[in-house]
Amino acid sequence: MAMGRAQWGSKLGFVMAASGSAVGLGNLWKFPYITWENNGGAFVIVYLAAVLILGLPIMMAEILVGRRAQQSAVPAFEALGGRGWSIVGWLGVLAGAVILSYYTVIAGWSISSFVQCLGWSFNGYAAPSADAFDKFLANGPLQLGLTAVFTILTAVIVYRGIGGGIELATKIMMPVLIIILLYLVGTALTMEGRGQALSMIFTPNFSELPPQGVLLAVGQAFFSLSLGLGAMVAYGSYIGKKESIFGSALWVVILDTGFALLACIAMFTIIFSVPDLQGRLSGSTVGMLFITLPDLFYTKMPGGAVLAPAFFILVGFAALSSTISLGEVVTSLMIDRRGWSRPKAVIVCSGVIFVGSIFAALSLGAVDSLSSFELFEGKKGVLSNLDHLAANWLLPLGGLGTTVFVGWFLGKENIREELGFTRQGIYFAMFLWSLRVIAPIAILILLGFVISGRDFS
Ligand code: TRP
Repeated sequence: MAMGRAQWGSKLGFVMAASGSAVGLGNLWKFPYITWENNGGAFVIVYLAAVLILGLPIMMAEILVGRRAQQSAVPAFEALGGRGWSIVGWLGVLAGAVILSYYTVIAGWSISSFVQCLGWSFNGYAAPSADAFDKFLANGPLQLGLTAVFTILTAVIVYRGIGGGIELATKIMMPVLIIILLYLVGTALTMEGRGQALSMIFTPNFSELPPQGVLLAVGQAFFSLSLGLGAMVAYGSYIGKKESIFGSALWVVILDTGFALLACIAMFTIIFSVPDLQGRLSGSTVGMLFITLPDLFYTKMPGGAVLAPAFFILVGFAALSSTISLGEVVTSLMIDRRGWSRPKAVIVCSGVIFVGSIFAALSLGAVDSLSSFELFEGKKGVLSNLDHLAANWLLPLGGLGTTVFVGWFLGKENIREELGFTRQGIYFAMFLWSLRVIAPIAILILLGFVISGRDFS
């Protein structure tokens, strides 16, 4: 056990760092577009249930493992459970590399949106043509260039260590992002599409939930909360012994979910209010974040010409605070396990992951064989398939490993002590029950259904 391990300055320090990792493209980009594709309502309910029933206990379990072992995932599982359990950590590293390889592609779009908004701010806004975004996606060299820029940004920060810079930067940028988002939501809600948007998001109609929706909602809960690959194990290892794990985890869950719902409300309202917007979205709901918001900024909002570029910088930052947490998981393992120097680890890991990114970046229309690649039914292109593989398979599997380990192998006394319960009362029993029984069974049933190829209809 490391002596005098560094700690977050306060509970707020952990909550900010962990929500910096959690809040990212998962909230601003992915949640709105998959909620749209799954017809809202029922999907949102399943998502919220997954966050509460699986997300919260598993986040507590990950933090608990980290704080108990005072180490990051692979060595932590090994120290507490023996060599066999370190496989949960390794699975996480694989998932981290897979996610990074396509996450940087999407993150790159925030750079191009920023540049485009600068142009509009100076020269006036002209609504893009219906196929503008599809053309952008199919522009291979541009996609590769943007991805490369974002990969290099991530590598530079991971190389310098996460400490001072990014933590401080996210502490300042996150609140600003919340304020701009609230302003966006407030402005959007003055538009006539609000009724339709709110009812789509908050009126559940389970007959409209597509068969795979349940799986997608659970996967999205893991993805958005940064669970299932050991990121929270590493962050948990820096939490002071006196802090409440439940309280910290609850805050991260609330912030992350709030961001996702707000982004959804703003985007859906705009879609229902601006006449030709649905046409511009067809085919590429994937680009929803980058297609819908400029309209609101430039046509409805006082100060929009300043806020639009600012907003996309912040989106880039939210993405960057997530990519570095992923990059750190992969890099630190090579340093700890292979004895590599940090520069070597950063260069090799970024290089290998970028090779994966090349396939993802060219799978949006630039190269036909990559764009039509289909590993999972209905998923077109390398990028979508990598996303599906990571979010809906690797992360839930990692989460399963974590709950089973903590619930059944870590020992009741260890858990009780870490959670700060003085005796084994009702809350403790509930937590244990959800880790031992509810969470594993829910994940197993889900994966079982998918493996057997059975759809939910
Ligand atoms: N949660 C981030 C998002 O929503 C993505 C992310 C960062 C992540 N670190 C992670 C996902 C660790 C899973 C595990 O954009």
